[in-house]
Amino acid sequence: MYLGVDLGTSSVKAVLVDDEGVQHAEASALLEVLRPQPLWSEQHPDTWVDAAEAAVRAMPADLRATVKSVGLSGQMHGATLLGKDDRPLRPAILWNDGRSAAECAEIEGAEPDLRHTTGNKAMPGFTAPKMAWVRKHESGVFEQTRKVLLPKDYLRLAWTGDHATDMSDASGTLWLNVGERRWSEAALAATGLELAHMPALHEGPAITGELRQDIAGLLGLPVVPVAAGAGDQAAGAVGAGVTAPGDASLSLGTSGVVFIATDGFKPNPDEAAHAFCHAIPETWHQMAVMLSAASAVDAVARMAGFSSPTEAYAAAEAYGRSDGVLFLPYLTGERTPHDDPHARGAVFGLGPDTTPAALVHAALEGVAFAFVDGLAALRRAGGQCETASVIGGGSRSAYWGRILASALDMPLIYREGSEAGPADGAARLARLAVTNDPIDEVCAPGPVRSVIEPDPGLTERYASRLPKWRALYAATKHLMPEDTL
Ligand code: XUL
Repeated sequence: MYLGVDLGTSSVKAVLVDDEGVQHAEASALLEVLRPQPLWSEQHPDTWVDAAEAAVRAMPADLRATVKSVGLSGQMHGATLLGKDDRPLRPAILWNDGRSAAECAEIEGAEPDLRHTTGNKAMPGFTAPKMAWVRKHESGVFEQTRKVLLPKDYLRLAWTGDHATDMSDASGTLWLNVGERRWSEAALAATGLELAHMPALHEGPAITGELRQDIAGLLGLPVVPVAAGAGDQAAGAVGAGVTAPGDASLSLGTSGVVFIATDGFKPNPDEAAHAFCHAIPETWHQMAVMLSAASAVDAVARMAGFSSPTEAYAAAEAYGRSDGVLFLPYLTGERTPHDDPHARGAVFGLGPDTTPAALVHAALEGVAFAFVDGLAALRRAGGQCETASVIGGGSRSAYWGRILASALDMPLIYREGSEAGPADGAARLARLAVTNDPIDEVCAPGPVRSVIEPDPGLTERYASRLPKWRALYAATKHLMPEDTL
């Protein structure tokens, strides 16, 4: 068996997968997000270690005893600051923390080549601006910081004693020269850091160390190698078989992500596209990240009075139209293409007879339009894809698939195992680390269950509504309610 562990934001998930890629066990343990101030999002690193231990130990002991290697994946971008004893100096600042907008401008000012070197725009989601915030507001903590680790790499430290990371997760720090796959001393200097603050860099399937004897005993595992693994997006792509250039996925979860595997480094920082190393050596990927996707539809469903998302999706499908209502899905700010942590949602075009079902329909369309913008930003940087595999919770709705395929004017593929996720990708990287099995076999996509083609009539209708939808954000962004932030 291969053990994959994904340190998510709301839970840690562990899976055991065999040599054929078949999953034999799965368990998870919940995590709590702390929001002590508006825009802040934090977690205590020790809760990650406790939850990971609980998730692993919840799987059958006889299977755990056969594990040959471990792969790690996790929420990206989080800043975990460690002092000289390797203990956290403060709660980790997470990917969805929006406090550091001012610091983004400051570090881009301090290092004018930053976008060019890292391939990415400084956005509050990334690690470097969070560190710049700590330097400005908690200088004592900054001075004591000896290492900065990403969340899954804190778990690695606890389990193996090594300071190490992988290329895909490192790409989200804004300290990596993504094109050359090495830390950038100039980018580090823009936040007052040096190479010594960084963990060792590895490719995703490389071995970074092995489980400590006491940890192996605690987890009921043999002392086995631990692979570098990947950030959750790259690990999810590995799990979905999105590894060869031109492979793409559309992730419909809390956030929404268009992910394209590329043969080279294809940045477009000015449109807030992400250009990262993939978890597979010598490959890269692009990402358009929308902070609210299926979660935006669920929120509208709740506000419209539906008792469950399932009921809301069914009502929207039965109603079949949005009656001209436009919906902006930026409930928690937006990354690609606006890079606007202050953006919020909007509903426009209500009439006296607007129905709850029309509102949900408008939400399904609004998220689809946001995906159109995201994909366009990737294509303008040379990203190429003819289709995309749909993953995440939203993949359960074929009706939303028809809206998305039509708005994107692209067939969407639905595969067996599309709910597998990053933990499965981490297990695949663990297998690559200790076998000579070829990448295309280990990372093969699941069999196609269905393909949803664009509906030409809908494609035309959405193409004519898109300019109005785009104009709505342009016309209202200065009105977003800063006083609630
Ligand atoms: C990717 C990103 C999210 C987090 C959440 O850039 O911010 O996918 O990794 O898990």
